[in-house]
Amino acid sequence: MKRVITFGTFDMLHVGHIRILQRARALGDHLTVGISTDALNRSKKQKNAIYSEMERLEIIKAIIGVDDVFLEHSLELKADYIRQYKADILVMGDDWAGKFDHFNALCKVVYLSRTDGISTTSTLEGIKRLA
Ligand code: CTP
Repeated sequence: MKRVITFGTFDMLHVGHIRILQRARALGDHLTVGISTDALNRSKKQKNAIYSEMERLEIIKAIIGVDDVFLEHSLELKADYIRQYKADILVMGDDWAGKFDHFNALCKVVYLSRTDGISTTSTLEGIKRLA
């Protein structure tokens, strides 16, 4: 069985999120998703998520093809998470291209292209424009 792991905030679920999760799952037989905690998201993106970490976890867990979820507390623990969840493949969006190559010692690292024209940030900006 080939196990895939990926990570992200996944706030205000959109089609870019769904597509990367489906494509990650298609690379193996089991998909684990690490959801950034509220604190990790704040430190990474300098903004608060709209949905709480427990809401984001529950939403991602409900998606067909997602087999397991957990809260990612620190970027420094990636290697531990890869080992703990016995991942054979680490999937990241290509906004991170090259940045995770050192994990090739632990598992295969695959960067998938992002879906053009959508992000949580742009969705929020669109909502603000409507308000
Ligand atoms: N992702 C994607 N295509 C998009 C947006 C995100 O494939 N258009 C992927 C990212 O590469 C990452 C995962 O979805 O692997 C979670 O990304 P996240 O940062 O939560 O989503 P964004 O929409 O990029 O959020 P933000 O605008 O807040 O940075």
